[in-house]
Amino acid sequence: MSNGPVEPFVWGAATASYQIEGAAAEGGRAPSIWDAFARTPNKVERSETGDVACDHYHRFKEDVALMRDLRIQAYRFSISWSRVLPEGRGRQNAAGFDFYDRLVDELLAAGITPFATLFHWDLPQALQERGGFTSRDVAGWFSDYAVQTADRLGDRIRNWILLNEPSVYACLGHALGIHAPGVTDLRAFLAVTHHLNLAQGLALQGLRSTDSAWRLGTTMTIQRALPADASKASATMAERHNDLWNGCFLEPLFLGTYPDRVRAEFEPFIRPGDLQSIRQPVDFLGVNHYCRMYLRARPDAVLGYEHVSPPAHVPKTSFDWEINPQEFRDILLWLHDAYPCPPIYITENGAYFEDTSSEDGKVHDNRRIEFLDSYIHAMLEALSRGVDIRGYFVWSLMDNFEWACGYRPTFGIIKVDFATQRRIPKDSYYWYRDFIQRHRDVARSGGGGD
Ligand code: GCO
Repeated sequence: MSNGPVEPFVWGAATASYQIEGAAAEGGRAPSIWDAFARTPNKVERSETGDVACDHYHRFKEDVALMRDLRIQAYRFSISWSRVLPEGRGRQNAAGFDFYDRLVDELLAAGITPFATLFHWDLPQALQERGGFTSRDVAGWFSDYAVQTADRLGDRIRNWILLNEPSVYACLGHALGIHAPGVTDLRAFLAVTHHLNLAQGLALQGLRSTDSAWRLGTTMTIQRALPADASKASATMAERHNDLWNGCFLEPLFLGTYPDRVRAEFEPFIRPGDLQSIRQPVDFLGVNHYCRMYLRARPDAVLGYEHVSPPAHVPKTSFDWEINPQEFRDILLWLHDAYPCPPIYITENGAYFEDTSSEDGKVHDNRRIEFLDSYIHAMLEALSRGVDIRGYFVWSLMDNFEWACGYRPTFGIIKVDFATQRRIPKDSYYWYRDFIQRHRDVARSGGGGD
């Protein structure tokens, strides 16, 4: 695909609906599975919810003004499915679409290109009650929602990201049970994985036939695993992770098949024609990357393994995630070599570090600056070695609701004081602004720079 003019490289920032919007019961929005999950005892730290979050629904103008001053060229956000289609299908909620209308107009007036994610995990609860992603019907529900949404907003939103990190949705939501909808079942995990692929395939076809000018992509989190001990079983399980986390989404989309080692497990869910429906051309691949994963075999676990902390000597973020920019470069080189990969956007990369405000009221988050600087340079190195990368979105524009961990982990380059909703740009915000200024044109000419 992508036979139009080469898109300029864009520097951006990313967020997601449930993590920032708040206004959970306003403007006709109905609950999503995250509203239900957050209300279930002991699922989210301190029983926090996204009811108010960053109150972005009411404060989006102030937030877009901060983006404009940051001089980002693109902003990635997600649409809350249950805000625009409260029952998940059928009836449209005009007030919900109006919110995204106003947001997009504000972005365009600020010279910022919108990239909209259609599914960042907040499935309408009404659809969960019909089986959610364990039901094959979800493919039609998702495709209808995608087409209706793009029909309504696609005169101004050109870039559509169909799914965000389907592996996290399938695995954390249906095998580990630590994300909504909180299921721990191998069969559900396998069904959900296949139905995510199928839903994406149908929606790609539906959108493509509605307007060929849209640029359609999808976002995966690419994280390779390594065994945490020397046993043969853990080595085998690291391969299993690579298949179930990365391969099960990359291979169906790009090669029309499931990885050899796990294919038989998916057979019961695959119907004739499914793999052809799933293997659709995309204009870009969104890549999220945070860290490698360490794991060891655990025969009684749903997937046969468990994740463990990296060894003590490894540099880590406050989330215990390994800091390793070379691995970021290497996965980009690997994707480029192993798959017929379309242009890549880095749709998320960033870090949680515990921030402290100093007496001057500022947040001197030097470790985040160092992290971003090293990861961006690793990306530029991959670019200079031939990987077609078209943009980079920092995760996240602002501190927000970090799923099961609530508001504790701070990933933002803007601090949010959740008691007052005051936004305080951190040092990393100013650093990123200056970096963008210096590197507006560098990336397209093949990386490099300081
Ligand atoms: C993800 C999600 C984000 C998270 C971020 C930090 O990538 O997991 O897209 O919603 O907040 O990754 O964990």
